[in-house]
Amino acid sequence: MLDALVGLGVSLPVLAAPMAGGPTSAELVAAAARAGSLGFIAGGYKTAYELAAQVRAAREQTDRFGVNLFAPNPVPVNLAEYTSYRDRLGPEADRRKVAIPEVPVEDDDLWHDKVDLLVSDPVPVVTFTFAIPERAAIDALRAAGSLLVQTVTSPEEAARAADAGLDALIVQGWAAGGHSGTLNPSKPPVRRSLAELVGRVRDRVQLPIIAAGGLDTRQRVSEVIAAGAEVAAVGTALLLATEAGTSTPYRAALARPDPGPTVLTRAFTGRPARAIPNAFVRAHHEHAPIGYPALHHLTSPLRRAAAAAHDPEGISLWAGENYRSTRPGPVSVILEELASDL
Ligand SMILES: Cc1cc2nc3c(=O)[nH]c(=O)nc-3n(C[C@H](O)[C@H](O)[C@H](O)COP(=O)(O)O)c2cc1C
Repeated sequence: MLDALVGLGVSLPVLAAPMAGGPTSAELVAAAARAGSLGFIAGGYKTAYELAAQVRAAREQTDRFGVNLFAPNPVPVNLAEYTSYRDRLGPEADRRKVAIPEVPVEDDDLWHDKVDLLVSDPVPVVTFTFAIPERAAIDALRAAGSLLVQTVTSPEEAARAADAGLDALIVQGWAAGGHSGTLNPSKPPVRRSLAELVGRVRDRVQLPIIAAGGLDTRQRVSEVIAAGAEVAAVGTALLLATEAGTSTPYRAALARPDPGPTVLTRAFTGRPARAIPNAFVRAHHEHAPIGYPALHHLTSPLRRAAAAAHDPEGISLWAGENYRSTRPGPVSVILEELASDL
């Protein structure tokens, strides 16, 4: 296993991947640590203040956790395409009685505030998705003592991360739930098995690999370790965990009769993300332009209203391709079962 993780006391080689938007709670992260694993607080969408509060809540229970950040990689939306998509969502906004932004909101998810927070109050591991951070952020976080891990989706991205001086990689496969960490959102990830992707990355770069995406059985976990990953990480397998903050309608959607295969869609955020198909995806998937974070801000009032109404048809049901295996239970039992062939 990754020496740095062993140094942190990690003994279970299946980690709890970050899941922004609610599922990753401080309790989930603490439960992963108690099981000998490592969880990651999801810093995405939070203010630095909210992130600090969740770091504090986790720290009351454990010192062993990481933080994940969305590194800025803005893909400004084309204004005409934004307006047309906004018009398309207008009736739904009326029905849900919410206002949606007239003009695109482009921001950096408060990147500098969160980096400053983690520099002044360091955590053992910081992971990045969406982009490779700028040199100054890498240097400052490393000087603060954090292990720095980059999410990549191809051997080329892995080589860029190695060149930028990152310490390790999360190699995220096509089947992964939620946003793809691709550095180029206009180029969707290539469909290949995670074990094959890990092998290709291993051939290209020397950095230690955490493999993630579609890992729902101990056999799949063993395969990616055999292919060259040091450890695995799972998201979807934990969505129904007792300690997860997954909302009630989201849990209900995961448990209902098979709604069909997941879809890699820009409909909710303008960036490819894998979700269980629902009415929102079916209505808008084909029409969503590329444009992150503008589309995230456009649809978030709709998703909030749907969540408040316990309506699974209007929320982003992020899930990996193998979501049908997801079962309720304590985090420790789920992670230990997935690691039991290793
Ligand atoms: C609900 C949900 C939210 C996610 N949020 C994040 C996130 O905030 N940051 C991140 O790097 N990855 C995020 N991901 C991706 C996971 O960290 C991980 O790569 C993925 O879940 C692995 O695939 P699996 O879901 O098939 O296990 C999310 C995944 C899900 C299912």
